[in-house]
Amino acid sequence: MYLYQHQFVPKEEVAISPDDRGYYFGDGIYEVFRVYNGELFEAEGHYRRLEKSAADVRICLPYSIKELHEKLIELIQLNHLQEGTVYIQVTRGSALRSHPFPSQPEPVLMAFTTEMQRPIHKMDQGITAVTADDIRWLRCDLKTLNLLPNVMAKQDALDRGADDVIWHRNGTITECSASNFMLIKNGELWTHPANNLILHGITRDVVLKLARQLQLEVHETPFLLDELKLAEEAFITGTTVEITPVISIDNVPIAQGLPGPITRQLQQAFRKHIG
Ligand code: PDD
Repeated sequence: MYLYQHQFVPKEEVAISPDDRGYYFGDGIYEVFRVYNGELFEAEGHYRRLEKSAADVRICLPYSIKELHEKLIELIQLNHLQEGTVYIQVTRGSALRSHPFPSQPEPVLMAFTTEMQRPIHKMDQGITAVTADDIRWLRCDLKTLNLLPNVMAKQDALDRGADDVIWHRNGTITECSASNFMLIKNGELWTHPANNLILHGITRDVVLKLARQLQLEVHETPFLLDELKLAEEAFITGTTVEITPVISIDNVPIAQGLPGPITRQLQQAFRKHIG
């Protein structure tokens, strides 16, 4: 079942207008939640980010967070979801194609669940990455539907024989197409600060908290493309990838081309955290 506007309906009954501004302009926002053991993981953080995305693009959410939470719990139960994700998007609604906001926008909300197991194999073996210019706009902190740069970069990485892209803006490493990026150098953790140039990942927050609990020195400080060569370990974090090691960048292995010990420690701590 889908949550569509205020009802739970089968997918076939979700009737989105061709005039929906999400379709014309990418004029909408979204969230992807993880569900472990039938429960939303880190729901608070996702709701806070959804509220921020909505406020900053001036879309009025059709529910309070309390109401939305109740709806999402119901959706999970209706779909008997144990392990997977909940996707929710809210667009500015439909109107004849014209750039200004409609005078009385009626936002359209749609949510569904997907069954998905934890990516055990990739978390164990690691992935390869290539670097590319981060050509996105300057509000990467908002989770909007405008994902064409992400889609293009991911496909380019696949076409170059890698699993994902690591973006840099004028030589400063930002993040990946659908995850945040972290590296270990001199036994310390480095990641881009949570400003307008990256998405403030919920998993990123959890991992930084766990890293501090493990007495790791954490630097939320910009670092350069050149420093990737000095990385002892590297990994990506995200709702669907959890903590996935990066074992080579631009065809150069990180350390011995194997996931490193601190990455393994963090993966274990994360496993414990999800219960
Ligand atoms: N992507 N950076 C980008 C650009 C992302 O799209 C995502 C998440 C993240 C990680 O954020 P979080 O830890 O809150 O999932 C970082 C989702 C999963 C997606 O678009 O499918």
